[in-house]
Amino acid sequence: MITNLNGETLRFDRDENCLCILDQTKLPCEEKLLYLTSPEEIFDAIKLLKVRGAPAIGVAAAAGVAVIANNSKASDRTGFDREMEAAIKYLASSRPTAVNLFWALGRMKNIIDSNPSAGVEEIKKLLSDEAERMHAQDIEICRKIGENGAQLISDGDTVLTHCNAGRLATVKYGTALAPVYIAAEQGKSVKVFSDETRPLLQGARLTCWELVSAGIDTTVICDNMAASVMAKGMINAVFVGADRIAANYDTANKIGTYSVAVLAKHFGVPFYVCAPESTFDKSTPDGAGIPVEQRAGEEITEMWYEKRMAPDGVKTYNPAFDVTPHELITAFVTENGIIRP
Ligand code: MRU
Repeated sequence: MITNLNGETLRFDRDENCLCILDQTKLPCEEKLLYLTSPEEIFDAIKLLKVRGAPAIGVAAAAGVAVIANNSKASDRTGFDREMEAAIKYLASSRPTAVNLFWALGRMKNIIDSNPSAGVEEIKKLLSDEAERMHAQDIEICRKIGENGAQLISDGDTVLTHCNAGRLATVKYGTALAPVYIAAEQGKSVKVFSDETRPLLQGARLTCWELVSAGIDTTVICDNMAASVMAKGMINAVFVGADRIAANYDTANKIGTYSVAVLAKHFGVPFYVCAPESTFDKSTPDGAGIPVEQRAGEEITEMWYEKRMAPDGVKTYNPAFDVTPHELITAFVTENGIIRP
């Protein structure tokens, strides 16, 4: 049984046939590992943000499919394939916006579809191999995003980030924070301002936890303070992640990203989106076609407060993401380089 993820966010434990994750809803107060085995546990972990961030959701879902496959009692491929189709559909309904979820599940489905003559035991092995491959590839890809993005950071820079697109949002390194980690590794002095990121506080809880643990100089600000720090010239660049990038480069990311992009444009601060190629969705022409997840209003009115702070009867509107128009984005950093569309 895994008792230490050694700096990684999740792992498919092939020996125990479970998905081990660091429960992000408990951070920064408690570092608790969860061992997920049933489809419902895996679905809930994604839905309830125990594992979150586009790339991490993808790798977790792929591992989830492998775990569910290995637990199958089906004796022939017809029964097995039917079970897996249902499991993949179920996991795909956990969250709608991050395209990496559908990309990862598509890769697992492709293993099943492209090996019709493999027996049940053989296909289980192939699915486990694919889940492990995706885990390893995520680490490699994020490292490359970091190396490419570090070129955009000069010694002494302060960058602003929104939400958490750090190591917790991937297997390791992160996307938006990977350039920070690599710049620091290269000996550059780099400071980070982290938006707290209402309503679920991914910035204050998660980004700050992982950066402070890594020894990076980090300052948390409320979301509505970004204009103030930019106006004072305190920010050299903005680095954010992405959940889905449409064919015209409109980009969905955590709610609040759009306003940071508008501010960055206003103050002449470069605005960089860091994401793996798997986040680019060529089948969605523009941002209007990106499904935006709506979440429970209680995340605004009750969570994080000792008692409900908004009056009974008030309505809530709680979109989890917004779409930044491509013209506000200076460049995209991927594993293959820097794109300036
Ligand atoms: O709702 P979350 O916490 O899953 O939202 C995460 C984000 O918006 C991240 O910025 C995005 O997934 C990129 S993660 C590398």
